[in-house]
Amino acid sequence: MSGLQANAADLARLRWLIELGADEAIGDSPIDRYALPAPVAKPAAGRAVAQAPAPVAAAVPAAEGAAAAVAEAERVAAGCNSLEDLRAALAAFEGCALKKGARNTVFADGNPEAPLMIIGEAPGRDEDARGLPFVGPAGQMLDRMLAAIGIARDHAELANACYITNLVPWRPPQNRDPSADEAAMMKPFMLRHIELAAPKLLVLLGNVPARGLMGATTGITRLRGSWVELAGRPALHMLHPAGLLHNPANKRHAWADLLALKDRLEGLDNG
Ligand code: URA
Repeated sequence: MSGLQANAADLARLRWLIELGADEAIGDSPIDRYALPAPVAKPAAGRAVAQAPAPVAAAVPAAEGAAAAVAEAERVAAGCNSLEDLRAALAAFEGCALKKGARNTVFADGNPEAPLMIIGEAPGRDEDARGLPFVGPAGQMLDRMLAAIGIARDHAELANACYITNLVPWRPPQNRDPSADEAAMMKPFMLRHIELAAPKLLVLLGNVPARGLMGATTGITRLRGSWVELAGRPALHMLHPAGLLHNPANKRHAWADLLALKDRLEGLDNG
């Protein structure tokens, strides 16, 4: 094979890998992950670890398909009695193929006792690398949006703090939207997450939580600004900050929705 042919073959292999979602080099030498021993779930640093062992998911045979994975997710989520249980159970859950391509299970950030819980779509590259939700450009946009109404994930006043997570905790390849099956598999975990964090209000950012948690069939452009009920709590559909970065003209809609959210939050203080 000539040097030119070898280069063309290497390029074709590289393109094929990128199409599969391997769009970033994370090491100098290859790792045969099939030869590695199964990882052991570690407790998260800096948080009180619950005493009860987290329920561990059994591997879901591929042939049983999506319904089996949802049933397994329901079983595992129902067995979690604290946020730390849930974090560990997600980190050990093998039912979702996205986990295999992700560097981190991105659980949550902010104050879990805050009255406001914000649910996004799925981690992007920065979130996957750091293991925290909304830390890339869309996250910075979200922080600016929240700051405009006096809210921050680490605000010293609980009433002005928030808790942030994503429906899907693993980065989908090439930042594609999570599929309906992947979202359905994560729904039981998210419903349990909401029960355990027990926020007063929810914000659903973008199409993925609207479809995956509310079964919405219309897009977020139509849904934004509407209040619905999720897990017994009021939930506001809002435009995703990543969309606002691409379409700044929509910021006026986001601002209207932020003001409605602020009103509702102030109502909690006075109620
Ligand atoms: N978009 C999301 O929906 N979540 C993140 O964490 C980052 C970008």
